[in-house]
Amino acid sequence: MRLVLLGAPGAGKGTQAKKLIEKYGIPQISTGDLLRAAVKEGTDLGKEAKSYMDKGELVPDSVVLGMVEERMKQDDCQKGYILDGFPRNTAQAESLDGMLDKLGMPITAAVSVDVPFEDLMKRLTGRRTCKDCGQMYNIYFSAPAKEGVCDKCGGELFQRDDDKEETIKKRLEVYESQTAPLIDYYGGKGLVKRFDGTGAIDDIFAKICTELEG
Ligand code: AP5
Ligand code: MG
Repeated sequence: MRLVLLGAPGAGKGTQAKKLIEKYGIPQISTGDLLRAAVKEGTDLGKEAKSYMDKGELVPDSVVLGMVEERMKQDDCQKGYILDGFPRNTAQAESLDGMLDKLGMPITAAVSVDVPFEDLMKRLTGRRTCKDCGQMYNIYFSAPAKEGVCDKCGGELFQRDDDKEETIKKRLEVYESQTAPLIDYYGGKGLVKRFDGTGAIDDIFAKICTELEG
């Protein structure tokens, strides 16, 4: 399985990716997670990226492409991969196609998770993530048993810096104008599989698995 996950901020890309990893044992490559790791480490790349992320804008393509290429060359990607949050615009998608052709591991499906815009704000303002294992929760929809503590590993939960209402609005605008056109881009290649991203997380996951295995 060599997948691209498409969907607006808050659609559930990361949530579904975590379940795909567990079931199929293939790695998730989330450019958002890679960038947040660089921010945390305080590298030059991280400092540059943070200035864009805090505004809800895309980090320059050159920064992200280098990061992805390095990651795709690691051994674990040989058995498949889940690209989450990348590509984000047509230029990135074209560069990715070139990169994957060269590596001999083209995409087998683009999974689009569709959620109405009015649901996304609550999903994002309510999101909490475990500092240690990355498990995602939502204070409105899937709260942890104990506030602020991860059910899985006991780690501390945090709220992302870009999950503020103003920044979310900008991220949604950027998605509409730059990322949503990728559904047609991959549609034109016959790779898109669309899923209703509302309803229970496990039901959405089951539908995705059935379609991917079928
Ligand atoms: P990134 O980290 O990719 O964020 P995003 O695309 O905005 O998407 P999110 O991670 O916010 O949403 P998600 O779809 O993963 O939802 P989740 O599963 O967490 O990017 C962040 C920033 O980095 C960008 O703004 C940009 O600056 C930069 N960046 C990243 N990649 C880049 C690139 N390629 N090029 C340039 N810049 C880049 O779920 C959200 C919440 O909803 C959770 O609380 C979850 O529990 C809940 N939830 C999930 N499913 C359901 C459900 N079915 N019902 C109810 N609640 C649900
Ligand atoms: Mg995510």
